[in-house]
Amino acid sequence: YLSNVPEGPPDAILGIAEAFKSCTDERKVNVCVGAYRDSTGKPWILPSVRKAEERLLVDPTVNKEYAPIAGDAKYVDLALGFAYGTDADMTKLAGVQTLSGTGACRVGGHFLSKFVPKPEGMDKVPIYIPNPTWGNHIAIFNNCGMDVRRYRYYNSKTNRLDYDGLIEDLKEAPEGSVILLHACAHNPTGCDPTMEQWKDISDLIKSKKHHCFFDSAYQGFASGDAEADASALRLFVSEGHNVVLAQSFAKNFGLYGERTGTLSVVCNSLEERSAVMSQLKLIIRPMYSSPPIHGSSIVKTVLTDEELTAEYYDNCKEMATRINAMRVKLVEVLKEVGSEHDWSHVTEQIGMFAYTGMNSDMCDELTSKYSIFLTRDGRISLAGLNDGNIEYVAKAVHDVTAG
Ligand code: LMR
Repeated sequence: YLSNVPEGPPDAILGIAEAFKSCTDERKVNVCVGAYRDSTGKPWILPSVRKAEERLLVDPTVNKEYAPIAGDAKYVDLALGFAYGTDADMTKLAGVQTLSGTGACRVGGHFLSKFVPKPEGMDKVPIYIPNPTWGNHIAIFNNCGMDVRRYRYYNSKTNRLDYDGLIEDLKEAPEGSVILLHACAHNPTGCDPTMEQWKDISDLIKSKKHHCFFDSAYQGFASGDAEADASALRLFVSEGHNVVLAQSFAKNFGLYGERTGTLSVVCNSLEERSAVMSQLKLIIRPMYSSPPIHGSSIVKTVLTDEELTAEYYDNCKEMATRINAMRVKLVEVLKEVGSEHDWSHVTEQIGMFAYTGMNSDMCDELTSKYSIFLTRDGRISLAGLNDGNIEYVAKAVHDVTAG
């Protein structure tokens, strides 16, 4: 049968990262994957994370035993405090440790697909995800057996949030649909609703009895302040939504390879919490038994120590500040090298990416002519830019967009 296995397509994001690795052009630039790089283009281990690891290495109570199915309960509590606020009512939060954000979406999608009542006449639970969104969302929720649908999010003519389109589509969605929302620093567009718009979205979701699924992969990268970046999520919880949250510590703690995240569900009572926990465990056990412990031990060590926590917040701010400086500089240098385009949307956007508006042909030209590797939707990971390559990238972008 193996001779009948067809070659599959490469991943739209990680496939490009692989192509970057095998490229031998010395000029090559990687602005593809959303992973932080320091001002010299190197991956960065946060000093607070390094210190936590050093502590763990000499801690005699540390061992290599399996974590429980739901993960390290202390870590989960701290992680949920980070997202929902330390004053959140933990007795109503069902939370499990997951394999980063992807694992959280997968476990969450499975849970929703199993327990959300299907709207009349539908044989799958509909989930509405923004258009555009992180490419992996589509495959994840399809693989969870959900009916993946889209709602308008971005207007490529104005290069801004398509708020009216979003509202119209959420109104049109069958009552009781699942609505996926990016908690902050929307990937790939860098456009978030304002707090007033979030409030209206919350009211609409409530009136349509929709269920909200928040994906929080960039807490700390929108404003540089992880607390402020949780505002939309916390608003929805205070408005009484039974939020489901996928949380990743890949970007904000720089724990990409550790696969550290959580999936949580805001319940109405202790009984509900207990039932939901039992079902999440039933989903996880046959999938991967229990999560890896290194990343969660690091997050736990940082967040249980006041000094390390303060240092962590500084580290996170440092990353967000450098990225933002690159955002501003990219547009400045584009102008300097002669671009007459209006790039104001790039400076208005927030988070790790610039959603430039370049089409796939322009992106392909950047890669083939200049060995600049980016996703074909025109998204540039600003973290891949630094003083050593920004002029080269700006000149190349000007070249492919000038014609
Ligand atoms: C990205 O969007 O580049 C990141 O979230 C990395 C990934 O897994 O795709």
